[in-house]
Amino acid sequence: MLGDFTLTLPTRVHFGPHALDALPEELSHYGKRVLLAYGGHSAKASGLYDRVIAALAEAGKEVFECPGITANPTFTKVLEEARLIRENDIDLVLAVGGGSVIDASKDASALAWQEGTYDELWARFYTHGEQVAPEDRVTPVGCILTIPATGSEMNRSGVTTNEKTHEKLEMVGDEVRTIPQFALLDPTLTLTLPRYQMVSGCYDILCHCMEQYFSGDDDNLSDYLAEGVMRAIIHAARVAVADPENYEARSNIMWCATWGLNGVIGIGKDQDWQLHDLGQSISAFTGAAHGMTLSALTMAYYRHVLPAGLHRFARFAANVWDIPRDGKTDEELAAAGLAELEAWMREIGCVMSISELGVTEDMIEDIAAVTPLEKSGYHAFTTEEFVEVLRESL
Ligand code: NZQ
Ligand code: ZN
Repeated sequence: MLGDFTLTLPTRVHFGPHALDALPEELSHYGKRVLLAYGGHSAKASGLYDRVIAALAEAGKEVFECPGITANPTFTKVLEEARLIRENDIDLVLAVGGGSVIDASKDASALAWQEGTYDELWARFYTHGEQVAPEDRVTPVGCILTIPATGSEMNRSGVTTNEKTHEKLEMVGDEVRTIPQFALLDPTLTLTLPRYQMVSGCYDILCHCMEQYFSGDDDNLSDYLAEGVMRAIIHAARVAVADPENYEARSNIMWCATWGLNGVIGIGKDQDWQLHDLGQSISAFTGAAHGMTLSALTMAYYRHVLPAGLHRFARFAANVWDIPRDGKTDEELAAAGLAELEAWMREIGCVMSISELGVTEDMIEDIAAVTPLEKSGYHAFTTEEFVEVLRESL
């Protein structure tokens, strides 16, 4: 049952093989000084960097650069980007990359105008979840997405690693100014992705849907929408793994990523996100690809949640995996759904154990200790139970 909600989705999305044609028009809305933020080598290797530089030159922009934003960006790097924004009085941050580059840029665009040390800013905006005040300055961000996964291109969250404490937490911006003002989504840019990253992204997309879907027991449009996105990503990932050049599949993956976490399928939902909390802690300790941390934990995690969310897991089996009831009890149907999920994960090449991501037994207590505790979803985990999930996922 839906209660009161307000939905603002201010990002202008340009989608398709010609999405970058919209860049000049988008650039015309901002001043001369543009900070181009990107990752390691992929944007240069694909030729995207040169295309963007040419478009910026054509538009008469003065270009500053923030290269080297790694996967699972550190807070040190975010503050470096923030300093570049402030010292150069940047008019627009253009983030070219995946969730890591876009997240870092969104956080930096707000933090650039806040006073405080590393520890003070971390405590305020990540540990305590403070949001920028309406009167505080925020530098606008636009993005060109190169890996479909996080939905960062159309949401206001930015996830950052505190390399001192090994916490990996989100900063939630405001829904109008720290969300990307425009997002260019060209699925052909994803063709250069290594399979591992593509699969990691596909699993992240499915997991975002599940984190929102596995909560509540009311009748809610959001759950029907989530089922549709889940069916689409399951199918498209299969096709893209078998045929990586398949544009249809790649384009569906990209649009699924945006819909998985632009807020719409979570409307009116309590939502879970504890699986993400734990997966993010693994990345903080190991640097592992985000989606693969989620896949490696999923089966053990859902075994713990299942008893409390039995009806929803049975619905998941029927509506997402098309498993007929055929006289099955809810327990049998739910178990069959999770078995299908596991088979699909293995089929597309998800990592299924945290040892493969570099987690060893002696790290488990520390990983659990930095993972925030939330009362969300069907089952609220304790730190001790996170330890169990981690051990069961080794
Ligand atoms: O650094 P480069 O050389 O660009 O390589 C990147 C990176 O190593 C590579 N890559 C990206 N596009 C490519 C490409 N390689 C070849 N061809 C391309 N077209 O892929 C690697 C991973 O990139 P990254 O941006 O880290 O991936 P993703 O989009 O999965 O982002 C993960 C980050 O987003 C956070 C995660 O925690 C993690 O830090 N998340 C953000 C969320 C949000 N804003 O709402 C929610 C998510 O749940 C998630 O927590
Ligand atoms: Zn995620």
